[in-house]
Amino acid sequence: MLKKGWGVRALQNIPQGTFVCEYVGEIISEAEAEMRQNDAYLFSLDDKTQDLYCVDARFYGNISRFLNHMCEPNLFACRVFTTHQDLRFPHIAFFASENIMVGEELGFDYGDHFWEVKSKLFNCECGSSKCKYSSAAMASLQADSTPEDQQQPSASPDTSSSNSPSSPS
Ligand SMILES: C[S@@+](CC[C@H](N)C(=O)[O-])C[C@H]1O[C@@H](n2cnc3c(N)ncnc32)[C@H](O)[C@@H]1O
Ligand SMILES: [Zn+2]
Repeated sequence: MLKKGWGVRALQNIPQGTFVCEYVGEIISEAEAEMRQNDAYLFSLDDKTQDLYCVDARFYGNISRFLNHMCEPNLFACRVFTTHQDLRFPHIAFFASENIMVGEELGFDYGDHFWEVKSKLFNCECGSSKCKYSSAAMASLQADSTPEDQQQPSASPDTSSSNSPSSPS
Protein backbone atom coordinates (compact mmCIF):
# COMPACT_ATOMS: atom_id res chain seq x y z
CA MET A 1 0.00 0.00 0.00
CA LEU A 2 1.25 3.51 -0.85
CA LYS A 3 2.00 5.84 2.07
CA LYS A 4 1.63 9.19 0.39
CA GLY A 5 -1.70 10.01 2.06
CA TRP A 6 -4.65 11.68 0.37
CA GLY A 7 -4.49 12.59 -3.31
CA VAL A 8 -6.63 14.00 -6.11
CA ARG A 9 -8.13 12.12 -9.06
CA ALA A 10 -9.82 13.47 -12.16
CA LEU A 11 -13.64 13.16 -12.15
CA GLN A 12 -13.70 13.76 -15.91
CA ASN A 13 -11.31 13.80 -18.86
CA ILE A 14 -9.16 16.94 -18.76
CA PRO A 15 -7.70 18.14 -22.08
CA GLN A 16 -4.08 19.31 -22.16
CA GLY A 17 -3.79 23.03 -21.34
CA THR A 18 -6.93 23.17 -19.18
CA PHE A 19 -6.82 25.30 -16.02
CA VAL A 20 -7.41 22.87 -13.12
CA CYS A 21 -7.11 24.74 -9.82
CA GLU A 22 -5.20 27.39 -7.91
CA TYR A 23 -2.91 26.76 -4.91
CA VAL A 24 -4.90 28.62 -2.25
CA GLY A 25 -3.80 29.26 1.33
CA GLU A 26 -2.41 31.78 3.78
CA ILE A 27 0.36 33.96 2.34
CA ILE A 28 3.14 34.05 4.94
CA SER A 29 6.77 35.20 5.02
CA GLU A 30 9.64 32.72 4.83
CA ALA A 31 10.47 33.58 8.46
CA GLU A 32 6.92 32.69 9.53
CA ALA A 33 7.06 29.50 7.45
CA GLU A 34 10.25 28.41 9.20
CA MET A 35 8.54 28.77 12.59
CA ARG A 36 5.57 26.59 11.60
CA GLN A 37 5.67 23.02 12.88
CA ASN A 38 4.18 21.35 9.81
CA ASP A 39 5.61 22.19 6.37
CA ALA A 40 3.58 19.63 4.41
CA TYR A 41 1.29 22.21 2.80
CA LEU A 42 3.79 24.98 2.04
CA PHE A 43 4.27 26.21 -1.51
CA SER A 44 7.23 28.56 -1.96
CA LEU A 45 6.62 31.69 -4.05
CA ASP A 46 10.36 31.99 -4.70
CA ASP A 47 10.84 34.87 -7.13
CA LYS A 48 14.64 35.22 -6.77
CA THR A 49 14.24 38.49 -4.80
CA GLN A 50 15.18 39.18 -1.18
CA ASP A 51 11.62 38.89 0.17
CA LEU A 52 10.50 35.30 0.02
CA TYR A 53 6.88 34.37 0.70
CA CYS A 54 5.08 31.06 0.89
CA VAL A 55 1.50 29.88 0.63
CA ASP A 56 0.52 27.64 3.56
CA ALA A 57 -2.57 25.56 2.81
CA ARG A 58 -2.52 23.71 6.13
CA PHE A 59 -5.18 25.77 7.94
CA TYR A 60 -6.91 27.33 4.95
CA GLY A 61 -6.92 26.01 1.41
CA ASN A 62 -8.73 24.12 -1.33
CA ILE A 63 -8.41 20.88 -3.32
CA SER A 64 -4.89 21.81 -4.42
CA ARG A 65 -3.55 21.06 -0.93
CA PHE A 66 -4.11 17.37 -1.72
CA LEU A 67 -2.10 17.33 -4.97
CA ASN A 68 0.78 14.90 -4.54
CA HIS A 69 4.21 14.97 -6.14
CA MET A 70 4.53 12.94 -9.33
CA CYS A 71 7.84 12.21 -11.05
CA GLU A 72 5.86 12.08 -14.31
CA PRO A 73 3.52 14.97 -13.53
CA ASN A 74 0.37 15.76 -15.46
CA LEU A 75 -0.01 19.27 -14.02
CA PHE A 76 2.36 22.23 -14.10
CA ALA A 77 2.30 25.28 -11.86
CA CYS A 78 2.12 28.65 -13.57
CA ARG A 79 2.69 32.04 -11.89
CA VAL A 80 -0.24 34.29 -12.80
CA PHE A 81 -0.68 38.04 -12.22
CA THR A 82 -4.14 39.53 -12.58
CA THR A 83 -4.84 42.62 -10.48
CA HIS A 84 -1.21 43.59 -9.73
CA GLN A 85 2.33 42.94 -10.94
CA ASP A 86 4.07 42.52 -7.59
CA LEU A 87 6.43 39.61 -8.34
CA ARG A 88 6.41 38.54 -4.70
CA PHE A 89 2.75 37.54 -4.81
CA PRO A 90 1.84 35.54 -7.91
CA HIS A 91 -1.27 33.37 -8.06
CA ILE A 92 -0.19 29.74 -8.53
CA ALA A 93 -2.40 28.19 -11.18
CA PHE A 94 -2.20 24.53 -12.18
CA PHE A 95 -2.77 23.55 -15.80
CA ALA A 96 -2.92 20.09 -17.39
CA SER A 97 0.39 19.36 -19.12
CA GLU A 98 -1.13 16.44 -21.05
CA ASN A 99 -4.55 14.93 -21.77
CA ILE A 100 -5.70 13.42 -18.47
CA MET A 101 -8.20 10.56 -18.37
CA VAL A 102 -11.04 10.27 -15.85
CA GLY A 103 -9.81 8.47 -12.73
CA GLU A 104 -6.12 9.35 -13.17
CA GLU A 105 -4.32 10.88 -10.22
CA LEU A 106 -3.40 14.54 -10.63
CA GLY A 107 -0.01 15.78 -9.47
CA PHE A 108 2.88 18.08 -10.13
CA ASP A 109 6.65 17.98 -9.68
CA TYR A 110 7.53 19.34 -6.23
CA GLY A 111 11.09 19.94 -7.47
CA ASP A 112 14.57 18.78 -6.52
CA HIS A 113 14.83 21.03 -3.45
CA PHE A 114 11.79 19.38 -1.81
CA TRP A 115 13.33 15.93 -2.28
CA GLU A 116 16.84 17.01 -1.24
CA VAL A 117 15.28 17.80 2.15
CA LYS A 118 12.54 15.15 2.39
CA SER A 119 14.36 12.11 1.02
CA LYS A 120 16.12 11.92 4.39
CA LEU A 121 12.68 11.28 5.93
CA PHE A 122 10.70 9.38 3.26
CA ASN A 123 10.85 8.31 -0.34
CA CYS A 124 8.67 9.08 -3.29
CA GLU A 125 5.61 6.86 -3.66
CA CYS A 126 4.48 8.15 -7.05
CA GLY A 127 4.71 4.64 -8.49
CA SER A 128 6.20 5.74 -11.82
CA SER A 129 8.75 3.50 -13.51
CA LYS A 130 10.70 6.74 -14.02
CA CYS A 131 10.50 7.70 -10.32
CA LYS A 132 13.60 9.73 -9.37
CA TYR A 133 13.15 9.60 -5.60
CA SER A 134 11.92 6.06 -4.80
CA SER A 135 13.98 4.09 -2.29
CA ALA A 136 15.46 2.11 -5.19
CA ALA A 137 16.35 5.25 -7.17
CA MET A 138 17.89 6.93 -4.12
CA ALA A 139 19.93 3.80 -3.25
CA SER A 140 21.24 3.64 -6.79
CA LEU A 141 22.10 7.35 -6.72
CA GLN A 142 23.96 6.90 -3.43
CA ALA A 143 25.89 3.93 -4.77
CA ASP A 144 26.89 5.94 -7.84
CA SER A 145 28.18 8.83 -5.72
CA THR A 146 30.10 6.63 -3.25
CA PRO A 147 33.81 6.49 -4.14
CA GLU A 148 34.68 3.12 -5.68
CA ASP A 149 37.04 2.08 -2.87
CA GLN A 150 34.26 2.58 -0.30
CA GLN A 151 31.63 0.59 -2.19
CA GLN A 152 30.64 -2.85 -0.91
CA PRO A 153 31.75 -5.62 -3.24
CA SER A 154 28.80 -7.01 -5.13
CA ALA A 155 27.60 -10.47 -4.20
CA SER A 156 27.44 -11.62 -7.79
CA PRO A 157 29.75 -10.92 -10.71
CA ASP A 158 29.06 -7.65 -12.53
CA THR A 159 28.38 -8.60 -16.11
CA SER A 160 27.32 -5.11 -17.23
CA SER A 161 29.45 -3.37 -19.83
CA SER A 162 28.47 0.19 -18.92
CA ASN A 163 29.65 2.44 -16.08
CA SER A 164 26.99 5.07 -16.64
CA PRO A 165 24.68 5.96 -13.71
CA SER A 166 21.48 3.96 -13.64
CA SER A 167 19.41 6.73 -12.07
CA PRO A 168 16.98 8.58 -14.38
CA SER A 169 18.11 12.01 -15.57
C1 LIG B 1 0.60 19.02 -0.17
S1 LIG B 1 0.56 17.52 0.73
C2 LIG B 1 -0.26 16.45 -0.42
C3 LIG B 1 -1.46 15.79 0.21
C4 LIG B 1 -1.12 14.71 1.21
N1 LIG B 1 -0.89 13.45 0.55
C5 LIG B 1 -2.20 14.58 2.27
O1 LIG B 1 -2.65 13.47 2.56
O2 LIG B 1 -2.62 15.59 2.83
C6 LIG B 1 2.27 17.07 0.62
C7 LIG B 1 2.68 15.85 1.43
O3 LIG B 1 2.10 14.66 0.88
C8 LIG B 1 3.05 13.60 0.89
N2 LIG B 1 3.39 13.27 -0.50
C9 LIG B 1 3.05 13.96 -1.60
N3 LIG B 1 3.52 13.37 -2.71
C10 LIG B 1 4.19 12.28 -2.30
C11 LIG B 1 4.91 11.26 -2.99
N4 LIG B 1 5.04 11.23 -4.31
N5 LIG B 1 5.48 10.27 -2.25
C12 LIG B 1 5.38 10.26 -0.90
N6 LIG B 1 4.71 11.20 -0.19
C13 LIG B 1 4.12 12.19 -0.89
C14 LIG B 1 4.26 14.12 1.65
O4 LIG B 1 4.11 13.81 3.02
C15 LIG B 1 4.17 15.62 1.42
O5 LIG B 1 4.84 16.36 2.42
ZN1 LIG C 1 8.45 9.45 -7.88
